[in-house]
Amino acid sequence: MLNVVVLVSGGGTNLQAVIDAAEAGEIRNARISGVISNNRNAYALKRAEKHGIKNCCISPKDFASREDFNKSFLETVELFEPDLIVLAGFLVVIPPKMIEKYRNRIINIHPSLIPSFCGTGYYGLRVHEAALSRGVKVVGATVHFVDEGTDTGPIILQKAVEVERGDTPETLQRRVMEQAEWKILPQAIDLIANGKIKVENGRTVTELG
Ligand code: GAR
Repeated sequence: MLNVVVLVSGGGTNLQAVIDAAEAGEIRNARISGVISNNRNAYALKRAEKHGIKNCCISPKDFASREDFNKSFLETVELFEPDLIVLAGFLVVIPPKMIEKYRNRIINIHPSLIPSFCGTGYYGLRVHEAALSRGVKVVGATVHFVDEGTDTGPIILQKAVEVERGDTPETLQRRVMEQAEWKILPQAIDLIANGKIKVENGRTVTELG
């Protein structure tokens, strides 16, 4: 049984998709043992609570330095003894020590087709604003392993979504979530939990089926 910890910062709709898929048996051989937020008011924590999942908050704001936070953050994560760490809308930079310790065991959902609209400064609604302002016709989402760069780790799954006439950043964000993020994040966890993903030379090899 893969022990999964989910890190969140906001509304937690991706967390909800993972919880729902796990409860529906669509994610096999994995259980969510904890949810950690950097934001005490994140609705994601309420979602965890409702499903009886242990949860806690740890914020850089409560520490004198980023170094102190990083140390405590790693210790908090380690308490859950995770096999897999899922970043579901988590907006804090992952400390290098955590990346090293959990190499190819941390995954992130990003709301674009990487390598478009990713990297520093591209998160949340900003991604969709940038896509609309560039005038692209197809957008989407990506699940990838986390390495030392920003959105640079091996890509696990991607799903494309059409831009529609009259889209606003908000309508586009919602469609990308519904049609892509909420599907590929649970699917990636299921694949990993069932030994279907290997990383070779910085790229993933996926055995579907
Ligand atoms: C999601 O769209 C996720 O892809 C994005 O934040 C949103 C969180 O929503 N993540 C990033 O932009 C990371 N670079 P949620 O809290 O409802 O899951």
